[in-house]
Amino acid sequence: MRIAIGSDHGGFELKQTILSFLHEMGTEAVDFGTYAPEPVDYPDIARSVALAVAKGEFDRGILLCGTGIGMCITANKVPGIRAALCHDVFSAKATRNHNDSNILCMGGRVIGPGLAREIVKTWLAQEFEGGRHKRRVDKIAAVEEEFLASRERDTSGRC
Ligand code: RB5
Repeated sequence: MRIAIGSDHGGFELKQTILSFLHEMGTEAVDFGTYAPEPVDYPDIARSVALAVAKGEFDRGILLCGTGIGMCITANKVPGIRAALCHDVFSAKATRNHNDSNILCMGGRVIGPGLAREIVKTWLAQEFEGGRHKRRVDKIAAVEEEFLASRERDTSGRC
């Protein structure tokens, strides 16, 4: 499994911890930055990771900022991305089983390294259950398609 990982300054330390952990587990990970603790804008990093996952260049993504919230909001703007904010192991398992989440978001100012490692381990190991959950995930994609189609209708024909 190939992982794209990124953070802003608020998630920088946690990113370094998770990168070492992925390395220990033998999981391939590419670091999309930030590469230093100086302030950067989280949407820039979330955009790069989310696009790389949506294009199929990576199997999954991990995004860290202070709260994980800004990363999650931004990543979910990219069609095909199902980013989940998880600060507990139960949610990490459930979001893989039920939502087929492809990006995990966490806050470096919210949880410590030990819990974050457990969350990552669980989230990477769990599979999507399909079945009734596939019907629901398909409905998420349908919302994206409905919006894009309506925007296309609204703008076509304008001079
Ligand atoms: C940066 O100060 C902070 O706003 C950011 O890391 C994140 O928490 C945003 O959601």
